[in-house]
This record gives sequence, C-alpha cells and structure tokens, in this order.
Amino acid sequence: MPVPLAERYRDRLPLSASTPIVSLGEGSTPLLPAPRLSAQLDAEVWLKWEGANPTGSFKDRGMTVAISLALEQGALGVVCASTGNTAASAAAYAARAGLPALLVQPAGAVALGKLVQARAVGARVLEVNGSFDDALAKALEVAASGTHTLVNSLNPHRIEGQKTAAFELVEELGAAPDVLALPYGGGGNTRAYARGFEEAGAGMPRLVAAQSSERRTTFASAIRIATPAHRTEAEEALARSGGGPVSVTDSEILAAWRLLAKDEGVFCEPACAAPVAALLRERPEPGSRVVCVVTGHGLKDPDAARRLFVTLEAAA
Ligand code: F0G
Repeated sequence: MPVPLAERYRDRLPLSASTPIVSLGEGSTPLLPAPRLSAQLDAEVWLKWEGANPTGSFKDRGMTVAISLALEQGALGVVCASTGNTAASAAAYAARAGLPALLVQPAGAVALGKLVQARAVGARVLEVNGSFDDALAKALEVAASGTHTLVNSLNPHRIEGQKTAAFELVEELGAAPDVLALPYGGGGNTRAYARGFEEAGAGMPRLVAAQSSERRTTFASAIRIATPAHRTEAEEALARSGGGPVSVTDSEILAAWRLLAKDEGVFCEPACAAPVAALLRERPEPGSRVVCVVTGHGLKDPDAARRLFVTLEAAA
C-alpha cells in the first residue's frame, strides 16, 4: 500500500503527531503520459489519474484529513451534500472511522455507482427534491444543529488534503507544469491546487478550470452545480495564475470523453472530460507541459457510460 498522504505530508497538513489517521490508501495516484492527446495538441500532456483513489475520485484526499480530524475532535457523525463523489468518499471514510454518515443528495441526480457505493458502507441517504444547492443548504442546517460535522469542501480540512495532489505533481515533474486543467464544479479543487502549488514553491501553472456551459442540466452530473460555493476565491486563484474558467458544451465534453477512452484507454466519468474539451478548444502553447486532472472513475456512472459506447459504436 502506498504511504497514506496524511502520513507522507503530515507536516504540511493541519495534523498533529497524535491525530489518528483514517486511511484507505489514498493519494500517490498515477501520472500517465497521454501520447495521442499530446500529438493532437502539439504539447506534452499528462493525465493525473485520480480515479485510482480508493473510492474512485479525488475526494478521498480531502476526506482522509477531514475525517481524521473529525474523529480526533470527538465528532458524533458527519454530514455532506453531494452530487455523489463527496458522498461516496465521506461514507467510506466514516465507516472506516466508525462514525455514522448522513448524505444529502439531489433526488434522481446522482449516478448509480456513487449511490450504491455510499449505501454499501452503511451511510444514511437523505434525498432532497431540488438541486445540489438545495442539498447543501440542508446539510448546512444539519451541521448547524451540532450533531454532525460538515465534510463538504466548505470544511477547510478538505481543501488542505486535496492540495497534496499539487505536491505530488511537483515531485514527479520536478517543477510545476505550464498548464493545469481540471473540472470546475464548486471550485474547491481549483482552490486546493492553487494552494498546493503556492506552498510547493516551484512555480504556478496557468490554471484552466473547465465548467459546463449547461451548469444546471449537464449530463456530467458530478459538476451539475448552478452556483459554485467557492466561486470568488476560485476565480481569484485562476486570475492570479494567468488562467481562468472555460465553458464547454455537453457535446464537446462527450467528444473529449470518447477521445480519452478510445485514444488513451482511460475510462473516466464525464465531468473529467471537461478539461480535455477546454484544452481542445483553447489550445495550449506548442511544446508546453500540460497536466489534465482526471478526477473520477468511469465506473461511477454506468448509465452515462452506455452513452459513451453507443457513440463509439455508431462512429465505428
Ligand atoms: N470532478 C468530479 C468527478 C467531481 O465529483 C467534482 C465535484 C468535481 C470534479 C468538481 O470539483 O467541486 O471542487 O470544483 N463533485 C462534488 C461532489 C460536487 O459532491 O461529489 P469542485
């Protein structure tokens, strides 16, 4: 098992020597070269494969830190709102810690793989008739009543854990890349990468945060979020890096998703293809070094996956 990121980076995280680490073996994810995408973009493109985390998404980086600290601080339970991945991660780490988890989700809007993951480890799911924003309001209400610790990325320990992905990139590449592209939902991960690169002190890439131009309705359900909770701070960080948010259509996301699967053999969930679509639209400088963060596994969303192979078969 790789060294848990909370052990590996304990001195750069808000953890003391005595914090009990709740780990499922997260972090140290593969950095894969993407030769065909590199040729297409005339750049050196790498994929940071975060689907290789224990619950299949980057959320595990933040959750190990947030749940370890919740346990140390005597939490009675944890709560989060989610489009699915935060929930699946919170549920698994809470089970590992022996804490109950309450997950608040928009009814009918969470991909099947994420739903069954959360239930399989014993979490309680509360469905809200409404959007992710409505679910978040409800989770905040539960947290305010004092019975549950909030483990959404509004909990600062989540961002702290997630920044470790930038540390890994700097260690592997020897410096920050020229460009880092990632999906933009609530903006927590954008803040986390910006902080990680700042703290690593090895340069700041131009950050490209890819959002769906159809934020409220996109088929990339992970990033189906009308109002990003971290918009101000995330967009300030993007501007400081010389980059910005890029909006891509669902058909661009679908085409990029197909390309990642067919040309690179990387089967991710649809949201992860948004940054690839953004790079195809706003091409990086020729010869530049680009990292694309692939945030979640394709098995998360079997219904969307059907759409992928139908388009692949239709094109064959
Ligand atoms: N990629 C995946 C696979 C996600 O699940 C999310 C967010 C993002 C990207 C966007 O990250 O919100 O930090 O900008 N998923 C959240 C959830 C909303 O509830 O699982 P962000």
